[in-house]
Amino acid sequence: MTFSATILTLYPEMFPGPLGLSLSGDALARGIWSLEARNIRDHGIGRHRNVDDTPAGGGVGMVLRCDVMAAALDAAVTPDDLRPKLLMSPRGKPLTQGRVRELAAGPGAVIVCGRFEGVDERVIERRNLEEVSIGDYVLSGGEIAAIVLLDTCVRLLPGVMGKEASGHEESFEGNLLEYPQYTRPREWESRSIPDVLLNGNHAAIEKWRRAEAMRITKERRPDLLDKSS
Ligand code: ADE
Repeated sequence: MTFSATILTLYPEMFPGPLGLSLSGDALARGIWSLEARNIRDHGIGRHRNVDDTPAGGGVGMVLRCDVMAAALDAAVTPDDLRPKLLMSPRGKPLTQGRVRELAAGPGAVIVCGRFEGVDERVIERRNLEEVSIGDYVLSGGEIAAIVLLDTCVRLLPGVMGKEASGHEESFEGNLLEYPQYTRPREWESRSIPDVLLNGNHAAIEKWRRAEAMRITKERRPDLLDKSS
């Protein structure tokens, strides 16, 4: 089954962008996943194909019209389409590796990229859009967030990564950050690789890596240590 991504955006030229290169680009060329970017403006109103208007109640910026958004969505999906419909938005639920795993195990996603001050709430409700945030900061639009989301999904699809790498995101089954890595040269600017990594004692190496992962996690992301997921 191919993982199928449909993007609704005002900037279809932003796709595939980086997703056309490297791991995800190879997988795209090999047909492991598919990507279609559709222009919301094709469903705009009137001669100027207007897609947005001023916020009801006043305020700054512009809001994507619900009728335009709904028309774009309805043209992109058939009633039997089982893919979740996502709306990239800083007010969404934060994206987690758990949600990424669920999405990657499914048929794909229809992803709406928000712009302006937002999207008319009624289309979010009526078309069941799941709002997803990629972090507590504000991008100028949902496109880069959609690229991030798709990158996280695609790397988990069967056949995308080599055996050695594919178990990696789960290799520290808890929520620990990665331990430090080293490679040649053994000495560099008078800094050497930790001895434990050089003497072939695999149990000792494992133990050192776990301790380092724990130390770094405590220091940088103590919040991860209270989570069970
Ligand atoms: N659009 C703007 N900011 C965003 C964010 N942090 N996550 C998802 N979509 C966004």
